[in-house]
Amino acid sequence: MVFKITEPEYILMKKYIEEHCGIHLEKDKEYLIESRLSDLLTETGCKSFQEFHFKARTERTGELRDRIVDAMTTNETSWFRDKTTWEYFKDVAIPVLLNRAASCLSIGARISVWSAAASTGQEAYSLAMLLDQAVKERGQPSLLDKIEILATDISTSALSAAIAARYDSIAMSRGLPDEKREKYFIKEGNLWRFDPELRNRVQFKKINLQDPFVFSYDFDLILCRYVSIYFSDTFKRELFMKMANVLKPGGVLILGATESLREFSNDFEISYYKNSVINTRKLNMKK
Ligand SMILES: C[S@@+](CC[C@H](N)C(=O)[O-])C[C@H]1O[C@@H](n2cnc3c(N)ncnc32)[C@H](O)[C@@H]1O
Repeated sequence: MVFKITEPEYILMKKYIEEHCGIHLEKDKEYLIESRLSDLLTETGCKSFQEFHFKARTERTGELRDRIVDAMTTNETSWFRDKTTWEYFKDVAIPVLLNRAASCLSIGARISVWSAAASTGQEAYSLAMLLDQAVKERGQPSLLDKIEILATDISTSALSAAIAARYDSIAMSRGLPDEKREKYFIKEGNLWRFDPELRNRVQFKKINLQDPFVFSYDFDLILCRYVSIYFSDTFKRELFMKMANVLKPGGVLILGATESLREFSNDFEISYYKNSVINTRKLNMKK
């Protein structure tokens, strides 16, 4: 059953959603809330969005909040999404990262990469496959031990799927070359399981991009793709500032092809690789 939302209820729910995950709903998105949350109203026995909003605001556990965030986030993703971005990783970013990793072999430093809205894991695992291929081509497989990949998301269900690293044939058909499927996946019943050794090289964590970033190290590369499109201009400004603050000088931030930080940050030099935009943290940026 689909519950109808009234105008005052829409204002309440819109505010609640933005407060808890940053998703900024414009006018006329009532249908999104109705279609994505009606099942939860039924499940929680609520008769209206007003009652549901009250329940969400007054719960003590945060369980309902997480379910609402799960339902309202869009977890659309695929392997090697945006061809030229991955050409940039393969041709430019990864050779640079591996050179850096090779030069810090003896001093215990690490190279860190963050997939900051990782959804069900395809982005982080695509990167892990390219890194694995590159270290083998260089004849230096141990360089992989020097590289840390962190994958985070706000959605509990997306993160669980990422950690499980088992994909159905629809997910597998989206952007994964046959040669990579043969090399890095094992068929288990109807699902394909990602190579467990490479999977274990990716650390997963639930992080809401609205929260302060608390890391004990800075990143060489951040992928924050197809998530800022859902945020307000104010939040984008704040987010790109926080990202610049946790990047090493000269570190790179990659957004989705339809996203730009041009109007929102002065902390990056913007350049291009083919038709992909590369945002490099300025060396002289003040922290
Ligand atoms: C469209 S997917 C993009 C996945 C992947 N980066 C890609 O480009 O294929 C957007 C992801 O952002 C996550 N997300 C939305 N709001 C977030 C927030 N405030 N903090 C962290 N992740 C968020 C969603 O849960 C979803 O998995």
